[in-house]
Amino acid sequence: MKDKVIVITGASAGIGAALAETVAKRGAKGVVLAARRLPELQAVAGRLGDAALVVPADVSKRADNELIRDRAIAKFGRIDVWVNNAGRGISRLVSQLTDDDIDDMITVNLKSVLYGIQTVLPHFKEHKSGHIITVSSGLSRFPFAAQRSAYSASKAAVNLLMASLRVELRDEYPDIHTTTVLPGVVSTEFGTNALHGGVDNRRLPNAQPVEEVAAVIAAAIEKPIAEVYTRAQMRELAARYFAAEDVAAIERQPPFMMPSR
Ligand SMILES: NC(=O)c1ccc[n+]([C@@H]2O[C@H](COP(=O)([O-])OP(=O)(O)OC[C@H]3O[C@@H](n4cnc5c(N)ncnc54)[C@H](OP(=O)(O)O)[C@@H]3O)[C@@H](O)[C@H]2O)c1
Repeated sequence: MKDKVIVITGASAGIGAALAETVAKRGAKGVVLAARRLPELQAVAGRLGDAALVVPADVSKRADNELIRDRAIAKFGRIDVWVNNAGRGISRLVSQLTDDDIDDMITVNLKSVLYGIQTVLPHFKEHKSGHIITVSSGLSRFPFAAQRSAYSASKAAVNLLMASLRVELRDEYPDIHTTTVLPGVVSTEFGTNALHGGVDNRRLPNAQPVEEVAAVIAAAIEKPIAEVYTRAQMRELAARYFAAEDVAAIERQPPFMMPSR
């Protein structure tokens, strides 16, 4: 971690803000904070000291990703880690989804990740090293929440985009690492920020504290790993789900018991 320059998208709140504080405390040389809301970014930067660089940006736009990269390199000389963390949920069942809903989920959750990857990859290839981390979701693996529908689908696409990138880089660029992070319910404004509103994650029982999620991502920066669930229990559930002969049956059984709405 020490002396690394780390870009974090979605750093104005929630997981991204907590990660920024964690990596700064562990000695990162530069922490580049990107999101749309400037006052919130400045408040996070104020807690980090000299290591922070604020870049207001909408990561669903390719040019804004390029601006983040260029400002980071102009200030710190290089980028070591790029964390695609910005994202947004939705609260609509599949039967209710509109074209605009799908476009929003794909643009904010999937295209932003593609833009982040394609923006920083030439820099990493030039240096033959780097680390791209993308925050996906446990909901990309199984339908724990039917109303997250297009969100879950967009994050499932993110997983395969990252896995495809990992395989693409493996032989020619073994020191460019990729990590897909799979959190469960985390105590942030994610639920209330979801398209069409929704429950406040911070009130849900067992919501994981952001500091724990940040610690898992920081550990992945220190020791790169291809995929990491932020709670071991989630990995065990995923293993059981994918091993099931009949997933429809397991969706009705404890501890899955997935509600249909
Ligand atoms: N909380 C959970 O339960 C949970 C579970 C699994 C995965 N995740 C994932 O974790 C990541 C972080 O979510 P969170 O829980 O921290 O939610 P959050 O508190 O709502 O934070 C979302 C962050 O993303 C930023 N953002 C959203 N759209 C953006 C855009 N177009 N351009 C730039 N920044 C944008 C927001 O900043 P601005 O509004 O200032 O732009 C904010 O900083 C997301 O990818 C989410 O899908 C969350």
